[in-house]
Amino acid sequence: MAKILVTGGLGFIGSHTVVELQEVGFDVVIIDNCSNSSEDVLEGITKISGITPEFEKLDLREKSKVIDFFSRHHDIEGIIHFAASKAVGESVEKPLLYYENNITTLVYILQELQKKNKANFIFSSSCTVYGQADELPITEDAPVKPAESPYGNTKQIGEEIISETCKVTPSLNAIALRYFNPIGAHASANIGELPLGVPANLVPFITQTGIGLREQLSVYGNDYETRDGTAIRDYIHVVDLAKAHVVALQRIIEGKNKSNYEVFNVGTGTGSTVLEVINSFEKVSGDSLKYKIVGRREGDIVAAYADTNKANNELGWSAQSTLDDAMASAWKWEQKVRNKS
Ligand SMILES: NC(=O)c1ccc[n+]([C@@H]2O[C@H](COP(=O)([O-])OP(=O)(O)OC[C@H]3O[C@@H](n4cnc5c(N)ncnc54)[C@H](O)[C@@H]3O)[C@@H](O)[C@H]2O)c1
Repeated sequence: MAKILVTGGLGFIGSHTVVELQEVGFDVVIIDNCSNSSEDVLEGITKISGITPEFEKLDLREKSKVIDFFSRHHDIEGIIHFAASKAVGESVEKPLLYYENNITTLVYILQELQKKNKANFIFSSSCTVYGQADELPITEDAPVKPAESPYGNTKQIGEEIISETCKVTPSLNAIALRYFNPIGAHASANIGELPLGVPANLVPFITQTGIGLREQLSVYGNDYETRDGTAIRDYIHVVDLAKAHVVALQRIIEGKNKSNYEVFNVGTGTGSTVLEVINSFEKVSGDSLKYKIVGRREGDIVAAYADTNKANNELGWSAQSTLDDAMASAWKWEQKVRNKS
């Protein structure tokens, strides 16, 4: 079976994708510098699939090492590029770190792929490129809005770099997947999300509050024009998201793509408010969550959820898990990480 390079394969979404690739028989090699993950994740992957993927600890910012890697691995048929820095707030403080880590690494990889007779490339993009969309649900044709942060900008620029490279590189097939809000963990609780420090995302903050690691959750604003006043997002189970990568990769490997650069939304198509997410946690955990309503947060958008028709029709993929399923898996993982299960 084909060999696939997964950059950032020890991270949250990467590790789940490695497992799904292994499940359908792909041979996986991981590159990760462990800046936001640990080598222990390999153990979790092995426990699930029974296969320890090949791993190279390598920083993709080191161009000579990227060149060397590809010179040693001629047999790689597909690349899924997760490796990036992803903390929106940190990107505002340290923009150059984000441009270096998210842009130069992409350029170095694409330079190597241009040398190949055929290359298949999947890029981790984000619904952040839409900003506050004018229409909901958000289709792939919705305009890309000016980025709210250097992080968001790296996703927009990343997409442009790939699109322009594809135009002059017929041997390169690429798909950018615009993720909505990935949550949850593998059902086995052998892999999951491991935020460093205070989580910036809602669900890890909720589970850490539930386990007693955080005092209480702050809900930013309950006066938005939504059904309960709190902001709406499209929360997708990370295993569903991982499976979308597998089908996207198969599409380009099998030559079923309609052009050599395509973009797909990956979400559930359903928006949930912050209060609905809290309710889901309370339901699956049987505990009540401590939270307080505070003012709106600068830069937050009101509502975002995906139109998933393109992914449903073209990729033959749709999210299978409910919010409660995803929340239950996130809670199981949190309990395991804190040794309370
Ligand atoms: N999690 C989300 O909410 C979300 C939403 C939209 C898009 N994305 C994108 O999806 C991708 C994966 O996100 P994630 O949540 O799994 O993040 P993550 O931080 O868990 O995983 C990223 C991995 O890449 C590695 N890495 C970072 N820089 C590297 C470098 N220079 N060389 C080698 N390895 C490097 C990290 O150590 C980490 O293991 C990222 O590109 C992120 O921007 C994430």
